[in-house]
Amino acid sequence: MTSHTPFSRFLFGGDYNPEQWPRSVWADDMQILTDVHMNEATINVFSWAQLQPSEAEYDFSTLDDIVATLTKNHFDIVLATSTAALPAWLATRYPEVTRTDYDGRHAQFGGRHNACPNSPVFRHYSALLAGKLAERYGHLANVVCWHISNEYGSYCYCANCARAFRVWLRQKYGSLTALNDAWYTHFWGHTFYDWEEIVPPTALSDGIGPDHIVLSAMGIDYRRFQSDSLLQNLVDEKTAIRDFDPDTPITTNMMGTFKDLDYFKWAKALDIVSWDSYPAYDTPHSEVAMRHDLMRGLKGGQPFMLMEQTPSQQNWQPYNATKRPGQMRAMSYQAIAHGADTIQYFQLHQGRGGTEKFHGAIISHADHDETRIIRETRALGSELAATGPQLMNGRTHAKVGIIFDWENYWSLEYSSGPSVELKYVDQIRRYYAAFYRQNVAVDMIPTNLSATEMAHYDVIVAPVLIMVKPGVSAALHQYVENGGTFVTTYMSGINDENDQVIMGGYPGPFRDLCGIWAEEIDALPPHTSIPVQFGDSHVSGSIVANVSHLEGAQNLASYGGADFYADTPAVTVNPWGNGQAYYVGTVLDDAGLDVLVDRLIQEKQLAHFETPTDVELTTRYYDGYALHFLINNTAHPATVDTSRFTGLPTLIGTNAVQAETILAPYDVLVIKDKE
Ligand code: GLA
Ligand code: ZN
Repeated sequence: MTSHTPFSRFLFGGDYNPEQWPRSVWADDMQILTDVHMNEATINVFSWAQLQPSEAEYDFSTLDDIVATLTKNHFDIVLATSTAALPAWLATRYPEVTRTDYDGRHAQFGGRHNACPNSPVFRHYSALLAGKLAERYGHLANVVCWHISNEYGSYCYCANCARAFRVWLRQKYGSLTALNDAWYTHFWGHTFYDWEEIVPPTALSDGIGPDHIVLSAMGIDYRRFQSDSLLQNLVDEKTAIRDFDPDTPITTNMMGTFKDLDYFKWAKALDIVSWDSYPAYDTPHSEVAMRHDLMRGLKGGQPFMLMEQTPSQQNWQPYNATKRPGQMRAMSYQAIAHGADTIQYFQLHQGRGGTEKFHGAIISHADHDETRIIRETRALGSELAATGPQLMNGRTHAKVGIIFDWENYWSLEYSSGPSVELKYVDQIRRYYAAFYRQNVAVDMIPTNLSATEMAHYDVIVAPVLIMVKPGVSAALHQYVENGGTFVTTYMSGINDENDQVIMGGYPGPFRDLCGIWAEEIDALPPHTSIPVQFGDSHVSGSIVANVSHLEGAQNLASYGGADFYADTPAVTVNPWGNGQAYYVGTVLDDAGLDVLVDRLIQEKQLAHFETPTDVELTTRYYDGYALHFLINNTAHPATVDTSRFTGLPTLIGTNAVQAETILAPYDVLVIKDKE
């Protein structure tokens, strides 16, 4: 697996919009940003309207000056293509470039991230602009990365999209008979006799509220199609750039567990993954860590760019808590620990107007350098300037893989029943968090690994693997046969790739592997739980509870209570070849998941480490050494037993590690170890 970062230094910088400022401000900005050790600026993210004042006219003079200013001050540049916000003239002259939303409303000019991906006019002018930018700036040594568009996402349902959808469907199915079969169209009399009869699923057609749909197979196909359409926009621009610039790396900024785009597919078109991390004040630290691990997983463990984070607060959440003293540094090291090779912010200079004027920035409205944020940025910048090269190009050695798959995400959340509380990311995160609590390294992996690739992992966890695509079950059987441990749950093994139920009883293709038949799925009322006796532990289940029969599996936990399925199996394990398959029949509480993970740690001798709650230890491996990132994600001091590392040197922190380490609130220790 490649782990090489394309950058020659650790990029520390972020989104910079000098076009919003009089030029007299630029020199002061350069001075302050250089003083806090910044070395990179991401520019031109929303400048299309300035670069192309009319259909026939381009004007690069301001961008030339911005590039020259940054170059003179030794900044590296991440150059965006600007196509994430349409110019007003374009939307006015060519109404097809704006989207039609789920409710059927065709948008006028306004907002951003709003182009119809299947508008020929948009596709033409966006690629043209990307090519012109590449021709003009692609050869510059300090243009180190292309940033195509911005935060691609959300769908269009217009007539152009409907036409392109039919073409996409013809290519996929070949005939209407095959499509009718795949979509199960005899349901509610949906049989199609002509391709023209097929319209996008909206509130005016097959949508049932914003989240559900009459034919989920159609809904999932529309999601696949829109994800592909937006990806084609990226490829259009990439191709145009490559005509002039054959080798500068290309990225687009992603958004973690964002639902709309199949990021595993997207990552193949990128040279490096980058993403924007904006946790809310109450987002669990485990979820932030999981999103980083997912972004690292997109390209098989290759380091990624932390393209955006706020130095202090956001503006667009309901409650925009500012990061506490030290917290921005802790979160930056958390990103690095999980695979980031850059630390970048939105944004470098806070806006004076527009909806983001309350969004945090390095240089604030105070307009001078005596702020807490500047002091913290300077301190972190100086650490990164000293240690950056040693932090880059690490690898993670995880023995646990958790499957994350966008089509499963869509399938689970289109399911009408058994419970509205089954949310995909939440279900995955519960399992991730149980490993995180014990500091067990995890890779987030796609569904389509071969058995040989799976063999890299001692344990593969597939929560709610509702859709089993071709080849997946065979690979998992082989993996377990060869000695792997597979863990799966309620709502797994239910549908095929067309979202039709695999007959023969749940969990379908995993029934033999897990040695269990789940006959019924009960849904629990809100705020209720069912007791589960798991070994010696009294734990509980919620949301759903399977009523299951053993078919060779050993029962590890039984439901309590007085319901008709009291005493039936809740958690089981089945031997299979040289390995074993666990099946969890209910949404276990954290205590229940801890029992399960403890057992896996013991059985598979998984590397783990004990820390207080929300203090994490994460290791990255380098050529000739390893770094352990010990991070206190809390506002309280934390005492950690570090006797395992006594005497080792630190890269960040006190001189040598003591048997016991007291971390101040949000403090970080980076321990240097042998490989
Ligand atoms: C996103 C966008 C940025 C900015 C930030 C604000 O990440 O990419 O342009 O709007 O959000 O948090
Ligand atoms: Zn459209």
